[in-house]
Amino acid sequence: MFIFPASITQTIHDPAKLNLPMNISSFQSLPTIFEVGGVSIPAVGFGTFQGDNGNSKVKDVVLTALRNGYRHIDTAAAYGNEKEVGETIKESGLPRSEIFVTTKLAQTWHDPEDVEEALDRSLRDLQLDYENIHLTGHQPLGGKPVAAVNPNANRPGPLSDPNIAEIASAYGKSPAQVLLSWAVQRGTSVVPKTVNAHRMIKNRDLFRLKDEHMEEINSLAEKKGALRFLDPRDHIGFDIFREDVDEPVEGTKKGFFSSFEEEGRKHQHYF
Ligand SMILES: NC(=O)c1ccc[n+]([C@@H]2O[C@H](COP(=O)([O-])OP(=O)(O)OC[C@H]3O[C@@H](n4cnc5c(N)ncnc54)[C@H](OP(=O)(O)O)[C@@H]3O)[C@@H](O)[C@H]2O)c1
Repeated sequence: MFIFPASITQTIHDPAKLNLPMNISSFQSLPTIFEVGGVSIPAVGFGTFQGDNGNSKVKDVVLTALRNGYRHIDTAAAYGNEKEVGETIKESGLPRSEIFVTTKLAQTWHDPEDVEEALDRSLRDLQLDYENIHLTGHQPLGGKPVAAVNPNANRPGPLSDPNIAEIASAYGKSPAQVLLSWAVQRGTSVVPKTVNAHRMIKNRDLFRLKDEHMEEINSLAEKKGALRFLDPRDHIGFDIFREDVDEPVEGTKKGFFSSFEEEGRKHQHYF
């Protein structure tokens, strides 16, 4: 088990370390691994949060992702799919050592005395002896909010941004590939989620952007104003990003969570 440190400090290019597939030619000039506190994290992972669609197809998509070369799977206790992810990893036949697994401490288990049990439960559900990263700051509701950036109003998301579209066409790539490449090139590990096999393949087919395009993308938020495209109000019932409306979990409105009782403990299915 590894607790994720505050920041990624160094990048290295050593795909052999995790036996990652090497057949992705356009990806080779970008880091494929980030080295964080002595842990090698694949730069591109696969996100498994299925949102309102639920987890009935999550095994299929995780298996398809593994078959398409993904070796980093991002799950969370609160996604309600650790069990399915664990089963799929087992059924894939891939050695455990080749797969990097991230999961997250659910928001209702943040008390220090609960953490160990929560870890044990995640390991049990994942059917693993160890996780590579256990993120402890998942859903920090009831604490101080993390960002004072307004949720998206009417602006197109980055995938529909005309500047991104222009950069994408200059390389013959999609906006998603540009955005994921930008993130990896700046040193951020990404975990794109898709249920579409074609997109899965494209989302790993990343490439190095010219400096001018990196700078252009870096400056977009400054030019257009920073926006957050995650708006949890419909799910949670209040805006977790606004300090003046931040509330502890027990004060949240019932019905906004898809929650269930397990051994007396309330879990929430929310990113
Ligand atoms: N958002 C969060 O707050 C959060 C928090 C913690 C962790 N995560 C992790 O991050 C993962 C991704 O979350 P997210 O919020 O970034 O994504 P998301 O909004 O949950 O899902 C990505 C969306 O982009 C679409 N998409 C994927 N590849 C695409 C492509 N190449 N071109 C166009 N559209 C594409 C997907 O549609 P299809 O599936 O239909 O292709 C989906 O609608 C989660 O699954 C989870 O593992 C997210």
